[in-house]
Amino acid sequence: MKPIHVGLLGIGTVGGGTFNVLRRNQSEIQRRAGRGIEITVVADRDVAKARALVGDAAKVVDDAFAVVRDPDVDIVIELIGGYTVAKDLILAAIDHGKHVVTANKALLAKHGNEIFARAREKGVMVAFEAAVAGGIPIIKSLREGLTANRIEWIAGIINGTSNFILSEMREKGLPFETVLAEAQRLGYAEADPTFDIEGIDAAHKLTIMSAIAFGIPMQFERAYTEGIANLTKDDIRYAEQLGYRIKLLGITRRTPAGIELRVHPTLIPTKRLIANVEGVMNAVLVKGDAVGATLYYGAGAGAEPTASAVIADLVDITRMATSAPGNRVPHLAFQPDQLSDTPILPMDEVETSYYLRLRVYDRPGVLADITRILADHTISIDAMVQKEPAEGEDQVDIVLLTHRTIEKHTNAAIARIEALPSVAGKVTRIRLEELGRH
Ligand code: NDP
Ligand code: HSE
Repeated sequence: MKPIHVGLLGIGTVGGGTFNVLRRNQSEIQRRAGRGIEITVVADRDVAKARALVGDAAKVVDDAFAVVRDPDVDIVIELIGGYTVAKDLILAAIDHGKHVVTANKALLAKHGNEIFARAREKGVMVAFEAAVAGGIPIIKSLREGLTANRIEWIAGIINGTSNFILSEMREKGLPFETVLAEAQRLGYAEADPTFDIEGIDAAHKLTIMSAIAFGIPMQFERAYTEGIANLTKDDIRYAEQLGYRIKLLGITRRTPAGIELRVHPTLIPTKRLIANVEGVMNAVLVKGDAVGATLYYGAGAGAEPTASAVIADLVDITRMATSAPGNRVPHLAFQPDQLSDTPILPMDEVETSYYLRLRVYDRPGVLADITRILADHTISIDAMVQKEPAEGEDQVDIVLLTHRTIEKHTNAAIARIEALPSVAGKVTRIRLEELGRH
């Protein structure tokens, strides 16, 4: 059978990895796909760079729109990134009847509903395994492997850059900026690294997983997002002393009142496998009603791990290209007319546990004031530690762990605690998840 022809848009970190892995494993991949998969044309802004990478194995052009219109191209891979040109290119490719593979989670989280609707209209596939957790086949697992289950919740370390930063800070005591620069050098970080640090990239990925897990439309604008920039060495150390590790976690959970969709630094018991995921590695914990908890682990970013996911999509499309559109796996796992309108729960209504750190004047009665306020808001304390004051200082750190409570109650209690004359400065609040029964 004639090989399937692929146009590659953007030959940077992931595009370069995809080109190399496809060439290296060509014959093995062909044995699996049932026909050859050839990148016949590459578009990049930097034609000289692209030519140096591709040699004479494919045509190189600078106009990506020429590729999406090319009648000789069957599948378009979009690896440019961003919301603007990438969106125009994907929609144009769909309109020209091409199947699309993309790693662009930002675009899908914001415009996925429109893109999938257009793809359905035109009877083409849009595949996006690489968009979530790099090389881990989490989309396939959620959409196909766990299809028998009612998914209850997902909790994941889904941003390699921020996990790399937290690991290096904790293990080597390196400063934040040094580790971020290294993540950028290694090609892990987004074009705008604030997406990584502020939890936005993780929220993009969580939005996609949540849609697939619960059969709801993509609703990135309703995701709660908090990044790692304000974490201090003291909090990382205190958490360790209490048996917890701090990770930037994306959590989506089905509750009777709605679906939680939140990304924030989270204390996790050190004894949990996921707490020990370090560096650029990602891990996603999925709780299904039938299967129980399942854990998926692997490289969350980087050229070849991400290429692994891009090529898996190429093979899937190659196998399914001749099947009737109605027989293919739906983009969001559920049939499009079966998506539900379950609301996303506002963060104020979310139930979780908390780590609270307060700096107080070392005077009698301080603890009683604090515990009274917590009790007034029906917040019960799980553990409390008072640190020794430094030599000559009259202020001490108090660390409290709470049982599960509703976020708005915690916020109200924190406001009252901060107003106490015996409390110095702001209360540090980090959410805590046991990742067990709940
Ligand atoms: P890079 O910046 O390394 O690569 C993007 C490439 O596209 C560059 O070569 C760039 O050229 C080129 N480009 C930009 N604009 C155009 C255009 N208009 N026409 C043609 N080419 C263009 O990005 P990555 O490979 O890191 O990321 C690509 C996508 O994959 C993004 O959506 C990202 O979020 C996603 N992703 C990345 C991962 C990673 O580990 N890096 C992992 C998972 C997903 P120039 O350099 O001249 O700008
Ligand atoms: N910047 C992303 C990360 C790339 O660090 O996880 C993979 O999506």
